[in-house]
Amino acid sequence: MSNNNINLIIRGGKVVSPSSTIEADVAISDEKIVAVVSPGVLPKAEREIDAAGHYVLPGAIDSHVHFREPGYAYKEDWGTGTAAAACGGTTSVFEMPNTNPPTGTLEALKLKQDCAAAQAYVDYGIYGLLDEDNIDVLEDLIGAGVSGFKCFMGNTFGDLPAPSDGAMLEGFEILARHGYRCTVHAENPSIMARRQERMVQAGRTDPLAHLAARPEVCAVEAVGRAVAFAEWTGARLHIAHKSSKDALYILKDAKARGVDVTVETCPHYLLMSTDDMTTLGGALRVNPPVREPGHAEALWEALHEGTIDMIATDHAPHQPDEKSSKNIWECDCGFPGVETQMPIMLTQVNAGRMTLNQYVKWSAHAPAHAWGCYPNKGVIQAGSDADIVVVSLDKGYIIDRENLHSKSKMTVWHGFETTATVAWTLVRGRTVVENSVLIGESGWGKKIEQKMPEPAPQNIEKSMDAIVKAPRF
Ligand code: NCD
Ligand code: ZN
Repeated sequence: MSNNNINLIIRGGKVVSPSSTIEADVAISDEKIVAVVSPGVLPKAEREIDAAGHYVLPGAIDSHVHFREPGYAYKEDWGTGTAAAACGGTTSVFEMPNTNPPTGTLEALKLKQDCAAAQAYVDYGIYGLLDEDNIDVLEDLIGAGVSGFKCFMGNTFGDLPAPSDGAMLEGFEILARHGYRCTVHAENPSIMARRQERMVQAGRTDPLAHLAARPEVCAVEAVGRAVAFAEWTGARLHIAHKSSKDALYILKDAKARGVDVTVETCPHYLLMSTDDMTTLGGALRVNPPVREPGHAEALWEALHEGTIDMIATDHAPHQPDEKSSKNIWECDCGFPGVETQMPIMLTQVNAGRMTLNQYVKWSAHAPAHAWGCYPNKGVIQAGSDADIVVVSLDKGYIIDRENLHSKSKMTVWHGFETTATVAWTLVRGRTVVENSVLIGESGWGKKIEQKMPEPAPQNIEKSMDAIVKAPRF
């Protein structure tokens, strides 16, 4: 093979896909992988990464991050958020619309696109907001390049009001016609508001009051409602941050019926419980809350049997003073996670909770499929973007909040001992992280190109669009 156009070779590592782990060298020309071949076949290239003793993985694709800009750049900006992603082995992110202004108008989208284009270290998609007042703007947002939509069915940081069911259904009808996927924060707002108010009146301000305000039934109801609307309209659906075992049966049944619904869970739901809430307090306040012991096992099982498709982080940075009040209601919800996901989950691989192949499936392969960017992303094969992570599975470290690239040092993982390390991260052929040090260039990250499968709208003749045009008798 001629190496004329090969400018980088990752040599001597083990290349991982959902179905195989093979010793292979990876040749890269500019932004693309051009060959994955048996060790030693390729002549020397101008640049080489010695991956001996390491594993070579597709970069993680995170369906759920909050980078806060515009509006809350003191919590995070696109530079620090995507730097954190790169250092954690995440090469693509999908960023949420609860910024200020929220990403529900063309102007707000443009503001965010400019922030992202100027600063991103990794590739990105931007979510548009689906809310009560912007149903007539959804198609414009699609035209202007959003990657998908987010509907806050329940209140969370940013306090964006949940749309009415009427608006949500109409929004889904529109997204269905375009084949777009809508992510939902599936919690029932009226149950939560009533419970929180009653507990505040009763003087409860302890960490577990947060859990009590948001019982699993909130998710059961909202997941069921979202699935009903998605199935009726044919809109693609994505369930954000699945935290409990309770709504899994709805999702399992929906998938069996052929509903295009994908589901994510996060490291904190897989590895933490209310026991940690009592020690971490406001730092661990998150929506939905981490649950009592026992739920995590059910989430692991759901990953293994396919009801949950992928691991996302819900990277939700806040400042220490926003998370430290003794009064749980005064603590902002969420914490950073994009930089720690891969080392923590690879530590679970070492602990035998999943295979490395499964990890690749859940961190890269499945999200690439869900967001229509496979096989450009999510796989190491000729023709794909060179979004690659080289990791060590026998060198760990202790997570230290001060070493995070996020502006938020409020990690709940401070002191966690990993048994794995992200050594190199490549984004479209560029080395962004080398020997665990950020060397990339801010602004290299690009909007992710997507090609969703053909739209499959249902009940079109009963959609708002059709009925307002129907003849009157
Ligand atoms: C997220 C945030 O801070 O933006 N917070 C959280 O508790 N998860 C919002 C969200 O994803 O619900
Ligand atoms: Zn959410």
